[in-house]
Amino acid sequence: MTWKATVLTLFPEMFPGPLGHSLAGKALADGVWQLDAIDIRDFAHDKHRSVDDTPAGGGAGMVMRADIAAAAIDTAKAKAPAGTPTIYLSPRGTPLTQAGVEMLAHGPGVILLCGRFEGLDQRVLDAREIEEVSIGDYVLSGGDLAAHVIMDACVRLLPGVVGNAGTHDEESFAAGLLEYPHYTRPREWEGHAIPDVLLSGDHEKIAAWRREQAEALTKTRRPDLWEKHGKAKS
Ligand code: ADE
Repeated sequence: MTWKATVLTLFPEMFPGPLGHSLAGKALADGVWQLDAIDIRDFAHDKHRSVDDTPAGGGAGMVMRADIAAAAIDTAKAKAPAGTPTIYLSPRGTPLTQAGVEMLAHGPGVILLCGRFEGLDQRVLDAREIEEVSIGDYVLSGGDLAAHVIMDACVRLLPGVVGNAGTHDEESFAAGLLEYPHYTRPREWEGHAIPDVLLSGDHEKIAAWRREQAEALTKTRRPDLWEKHGKAKS
């Protein structure tokens, strides 16, 4: 079955956007994955197609209405393959990880609810099975870019999207380590040479050097990752 992303958004014209290009774009054209961008405003009740209202209790900004968001989610669920999880993109969500991406990529697809405004009426999150996910500790102006990020991370893991299957084993996070540095020709550039070991032809030595580099990078740049998985495997 084709992996299917269903996006609920106020800006359907933003999709596929960057995902219509490069590897994801080719895979989309080849039918490796499917994208359905649904306009949340199609579920509005008034002629202005409004989807938000002022926050109960007062305060700044606007809140997306529960009835409209729920109608959009229910339609998306009906159109998506059975068992497709629904994710609401929010800086308050559980942080996205490569393990989470792999789970999503192995499933039937994902329904991504993109917010704008201050937020979404809490009752929708409580009444529907929705996971809140953040792509990092910073605040975007809406969930649409975060939805692109999640789709890109998933689509590149689908069979046949990235040419060489070995690519995924070597890359950052696959082993809980950041990736080792890469080099290519010319052999010397602006007075900097490629490390000798990489030109030695000794595959064991090369693998050991790459491992050391990956560990050193992880320790200094991402002590949190090193504590979690790097140390145990070294
Ligand atoms: N919407 C706004 N900021 C976000 C973030 N950091 N992650 C996911 N969705 C968001």
